[in-house]
Amino acid sequence: MCGIVGYVGKKQAAPILLDGLAKLEYRGYDSAGISVRDGDKDAVIVKAKGRLSKLADKTDQGRAVPGTCGIGHTRWATHGEPSELNAHPHCSDDMNVIGVHNGIIENFQELRQKLIRHDYQFYSETDTEVAIKLIDYYYKKYAGTPVDAINHALVRIRGSYALAVMFKEYPGEIYVARKDNPMILGLNEDGAFLGSDVPAILKYTRKVYYIGNMELGRLSADGVTFYNLDGDEIQKEITEIEWDAESAEKGGFEHFMMKEIHEQPKAIADTLGMYISNGKIDLSSLAKNGAVDENDKASDPEAILKEIGRVYIVACGSAYHAGMIGKSVIEKLAGIPVEVSLASEFRYCDPKLDKNSVVIVISQSGETADSLAALRLSKERGIPVIAIVNVFGSTIAREADYVMYTAAGPEIAVATTKAYSAQLITLYILAMKTALLKGILDEERAKGLMDELAAIPAGISKILEDKERIQWFAAKYANAKDVFFIGRGIDYAIGLEGSLKMKEISYIHSEAYAAGELKHGTISLIEKGTLVIGIMTQNDLYEKTRSNMVEVKARGAYLFGLTSYGNYNVEDTVDFAVYVPKTDENFVASLAIVPLQLLGYYMAVTKGLDVDKPRNLAKSVTVE
Ligand code: AGP
Repeated sequence: MCGIVGYVGKKQAAPILLDGLAKLEYRGYDSAGISVRDGDKDAVIVKAKGRLSKLADKTDQGRAVPGTCGIGHTRWATHGEPSELNAHPHCSDDMNVIGVHNGIIENFQELRQKLIRHDYQFYSETDTEVAIKLIDYYYKKYAGTPVDAINHALVRIRGSYALAVMFKEYPGEIYVARKDNPMILGLNEDGAFLGSDVPAILKYTRKVYYIGNMELGRLSADGVTFYNLDGDEIQKEITEIEWDAESAEKGGFEHFMMKEIHEQPKAIADTLGMYISNGKIDLSSLAKNGAVDENDKASDPEAILKEIGRVYIVACGSAYHAGMIGKSVIEKLAGIPVEVSLASEFRYCDPKLDKNSVVIVISQSGETADSLAALRLSKERGIPVIAIVNVFGSTIAREADYVMYTAAGPEIAVATTKAYSAQLITLYILAMKTALLKGILDEERAKGLMDELAAIPAGISKILEDKERIQWFAAKYANAKDVFFIGRGIDYAIGLEGSLKMKEISYIHSEAYAAGELKHGTISLIEKGTLVIGIMTQNDLYEKTRSNMVEVKARGAYLFGLTSYGNYNVEDTVDFAVYVPKTDENFVASLAIVPLQLLGYYMAVTKGLDVDKPRNLAKSVTVE
């Protein structure tokens, strides 16, 4: 995720901005920039693609850009490739308004068109440039204050943002606003600071203000003033931060994995926001790579989806598990057969790919060697490839015909959580769009499904409210030697991911089985006290898996049952029941996976293991 910093006061701003950005490096970025104003002079903007050290060198460690008021940004690309042009800060042509932004502006295309009609020109592919020029437009149109101009713009902007903006006519001031993106403001005797995260300003002050959703702030050397959307001044309490620097990086969580588990509602909402607007699925933002020949079959993703007769999904690890859920949802909603393959197997089995098909490669990092090789093989065989990728501009993103980005932001823990969840969302969207294009799904049912999708972030938050129950259970079972996950259909695929989470970070041997397969061999491993986790979220399979649970209980197993609210008779069978909110059965994996992520996490924590960096594993597997 991008990082924002800002400073105004008695000191030189640039070194403070560079230092603050360095503290946010752990969040991941691909370019950086600062803008500093020296008194009444025009502000200077300096940007660099790549490491922050490049920006530091370009500015002579900040000495080349004098001034006591400035803003800075590290960018993690979401709209437009990583480049100096797309890096922040962005400004209006006359440098009247200069700003940086975190988040995603959903209706930026529509706002861009409006501004073009008013003679604005655009140089970058970013939604941020649109936001900054929109503020400039309203500032000039109504000739009001910066607060008025920002408020006018915010009323028109849909999406999430943390914005920091400087106005030419108000030197020595920085204006900020936020919605669903973090931002804090701090004060010391030398001035006022802002950061998208605590570590950015912790070195300078522990006295901070938390700015609320849809609120604005004005920073000057004299302090901070807050405003509501009506432009009225509002009062805020100053808070003292007690975190140390390390826990500040993790947002107060003990590990990145737990932080990322909690970021899932936002990752899902942001990913939905990228592809659904005004109740319609819009795949126009599906990045089309230059390599695509306009006359080729692969020139229009919607035409491809409308015509396809088969889908191949290829991925590794958790991405493969997401693919298994995708298979079930695409087959059920769009009625076309889907084959899911492990990328490491796909290329060696000389796959026979139907001409009328599409290959979907799923990868968080976009660099996994086997997935990349599978992509290349599919292209060689003339099959269009859609990549579902989290890292912008990664190799898989560049080489696929089309890219559907997930908006999970940088994932730091080796065990994936929020990227997996965002992958599920893109697969649901692809399934629904394909079904709509094929005329299998009517608009009314599609609307119902979209409402269910919109409710998933809140459902996850509700599960997280009760996480201490899972923690208690994990503490009790952290000494388990073997754990079995059983389920049928989608529930089996959820079990595979739950089992991977457990084994990769807690080092407990665990296996996921299709529940019906147990009695073909595995049931001989069940003995007194063996932990069996039964996943029972599908109505038509609920009783069948429950009877498999009864079979293992009869052989001494201890039963953890995971199902949806309402299925309370599960307690007649299991020893420990966990419920997730009800949703459409196609989407239930997005909720049911969360207690299993928590279970793996708490077991690892109970055992005192290095949760974020488990032994022998790498975040990105670039070797075969
Ligand atoms: C899961 O927690 C792992 N980190 C791993 O299985 C991962 O999903 C796999 O290596 C694929 O990585 P990718 O999504 O970056 O391609």
